[in-house]
Amino acid sequence: MSGQTLSEMAVEVLTTAEGRAKTALARRHAATWFAARAEGRVIPLGRAAPPMRPARPAEPALLDPRDVPRRRPGSPQGRIALLHAVAHIELNAVDLHWDILARFTDIPMPMGFYDDWVKCGDEEAKHFNLVCDCLEEMGSHYGALPAHAGMWRAAEDTAEDFMGRLAVVPMVLEARGLDVTPGMIAVFEKAGAESAVAALKTIYAEEVGHVAYGSKWFHFLCGRHDHDPKDVFHTLVGKYFHGALKPPFNEEKRAEAGLPPDFYWPLADEIPKRSR
Ligand SMILES: [Fe+2]
Ligand SMILES: [Fe+2]
Repeated sequence: MSGQTLSEMAVEVLTTAEGRAKTALARRHAATWFAARAEGRVIPLGRAAPPMRPARPAEPALLDPRDVPRRRPGSPQGRIALLHAVAHIELNAVDLHWDILARFTDIPMPMGFYDDWVKCGDEEAKHFNLVCDCLEEMGSHYGALPAHAGMWRAAEDTAEDFMGRLAVVPMVLEARGLDVTPGMIAVFEKAGAESAVAALKTIYAEEVGHVAYGSKWFHFLCGRHDHDPKDVFHTLVGKYFHGALKPPFNEEKRAEAGLPPDFYWPLADEIPKRSR
């Protein structure tokens, strides 16, 4: 394949609309990147202009979050709706990670940053495929239900601010995934939905890595500029994230991912309960 730069690969993922086609391309480009790295070669980063909004399939219809029907996870239809929402988050995550790879190439970073982010972009594609497989097994598919329209907002708000993007996407949004995924796993365990449980467990394990990469490179950039990471994090989340962080937090997994409590508790909408 190829001769494509990493930025060109990323833009190709972003401008591919259909979900499975987007994820197939993401996985193929990631494999090409890592095959070159294994041979001791580096694919040039290049420069390419990522679109302000990624291409997306004609369905699902994107609605204001207030207009997306509420779901009751106790019923099969409710579980389908829950997985559909997860699929939508994963497809958005594919675009978010490949967007970072193309958008901020003017900021010099060690090669390990690109390795980490290509791995994230590959894993999100895998997550989307896994969740789509589960939906199809349950007689549905991605696109069958409406989905939230607002998910790309974090990317637009931080399109010019690399550290803002790292603060909001991996360290707030993906960290939130660590808080809520165990509850989702319990819902599907109760229903005996084995493949959904397995998919969500894979997602849960790999998302710890995504938050950790965010925290690692956020700290790296703060260190480069001799800034206090906690203060910079609070400033950037205040600037770009709309609303307070919602406890309960998964403090154990957040710690595993390099996010200490003094980063997120001061931004929470309740006072911490000192139960331990
Ligand atoms: Fe994911
Ligand atoms: Fe992720």
